[in-house]
Amino acid sequence: MYAVEVPADAGSDEFRRVARRALSHEIAPQTVNFVPSGSSGLFPILPEERPGFHLTVSRSYAALLDDAICHRAEDRFALLYAVLWRLKHSEPDLVSRTSDAAVAQLSLYGKAVRRDVHKMHAFVRFHETSAENGPVFLAWFEPEHFILRRAAPFFANRFANMRWIIATSIGTAAWDTKELTFGPALERPRNLHDCVLNEVWQTYYRTTFNPARLNTKLMTREMPRKYWGSMPETGLIPDMVSGARERLADMDRQPDVSPRFAAKIGRSRKPESAPANDWAALKQEALGCTACPLHLAATQTVFGEGPLDSRIVFVGEQPGDFEDIAGRPFVGPAGRMFHRALKEAGIDRAQVYVTNAVKHFKLEPRGKRRIHSRPSTAEVQVCRHWLFRELDLIDPELVVALGATAAQALSGKPVAVTKMRGIELSWPDDRRGIITVHPSFLLRLANDAARAAEYEKFVADLRLVALLVGGTELDIRDGKRNAA
Ligand code: URA
Repeated sequence: MYAVEVPADAGSDEFRRVARRALSHEIAPQTVNFVPSGSSGLFPILPEERPGFHLTVSRSYAALLDDAICHRAEDRFALLYAVLWRLKHSEPDLVSRTSDAAVAQLSLYGKAVRRDVHKMHAFVRFHETSAENGPVFLAWFEPEHFILRRAAPFFANRFANMRWIIATSIGTAAWDTKELTFGPALERPRNLHDCVLNEVWQTYYRTTFNPARLNTKLMTREMPRKYWGSMPETGLIPDMVSGARERLADMDRQPDVSPRFAAKIGRSRKPESAPANDWAALKQEALGCTACPLHLAATQTVFGEGPLDSRIVFVGEQPGDFEDIAGRPFVGPAGRMFHRALKEAGIDRAQVYVTNAVKHFKLEPRGKRRIHSRPSTAEVQVCRHWLFRELDLIDPELVVALGATAAQALSGKPVAVTKMRGIELSWPDDRRGIITVHPSFLLRLANDAARAAEYEKFVADLRLVALLVGGTELDIRDGKRNAA
């Protein structure tokens, strides 16, 4: 029997290293005992990897490993090694056999991990505090599984211009606007006010933050001061601070209730009433948004609409002329084409939530006409927190980007729509997604034949959307996430 030491929070790379060592010597799963670091006792230690050993694993195994490795269950390492052994020796298609007990167990672990990552993305709330060189945002979260390294890049992407620290019971992640670093776990503060005063946090911050790395160039390029005033992140800070204040007040009243527990309480409220109130409050907040200059020329904020338990959210670019006046998304010519295509794909418009990456109409006055103008990267960036807060509330199974602006808002970087369209993908926040063209692209095609051909392709993409959330028209029309 061999003892294989693995740290409790080992990631895929660490596991791969030890698994390769064992496999390279043909050490069978029954003779391997995975134990926490430093506890191998009297068992012989695994020999180093045999030189020249070659191993490739399928994508499906790699995906299973990446998810399941983060689970807390002690048997995950043994299961992962046993599956790898069988894959290599006699069952190359094992991962596709979901009825196999080991594969099924690992898939369940993976599912729980993805859910935990999603919860962390949705429930972390930052609290602003001051440190050397300006504000730092602090948050505390208690994950179920070892997901910190997996979940943290999402916050780096979404709050790229903030310096923040997320402390958890399994470790700490810190972002200095350029680099994500990880440190040891910190003690849970009694409430967030305590953590602001807490020396440990301040020390941790001082040791991980290098002021020389503060990327003012990037900040000013993404959000030029002449537009946004002296605080480049003005669009995101009010959101983070106002959300944090509410939550802080709540936590101060109940200092012994952990965020995880609070999140569970929140979830157990009646599903219809909680999101409806939260959504109405969010919309109200967005209606007053003045974070970028687009609000000056536009008539009003155009917020998303649709059932709050929608399984699919469609994201457009920005409201057009008609939408700006009506205050509702997709009610103009592009919207009519979009609705026709949805219908042909078997998707009931009334059962899906539709919104935009940018909530104000960007226009250029030309005589009496108001000409659509594409939003800049900075405008998309400053507006995207509204979109993410809508997604957090609705928690759809699939998020569909209509065109490049929506894809950029969701992914945080420019996307080549023609290359990426019609492929199931994961957005950086781990939601499932798909990209297709924007319906106004079809309207702009002057040639009838080209337009008809592109329209067919658009409908085909929407049919794929339907398939991805459950396969049948009826499932989508039914609209309930549990119906599929
Ligand atoms: N185009 C969009 O992207 N959104 C709308 O709401 C209308 C047109």
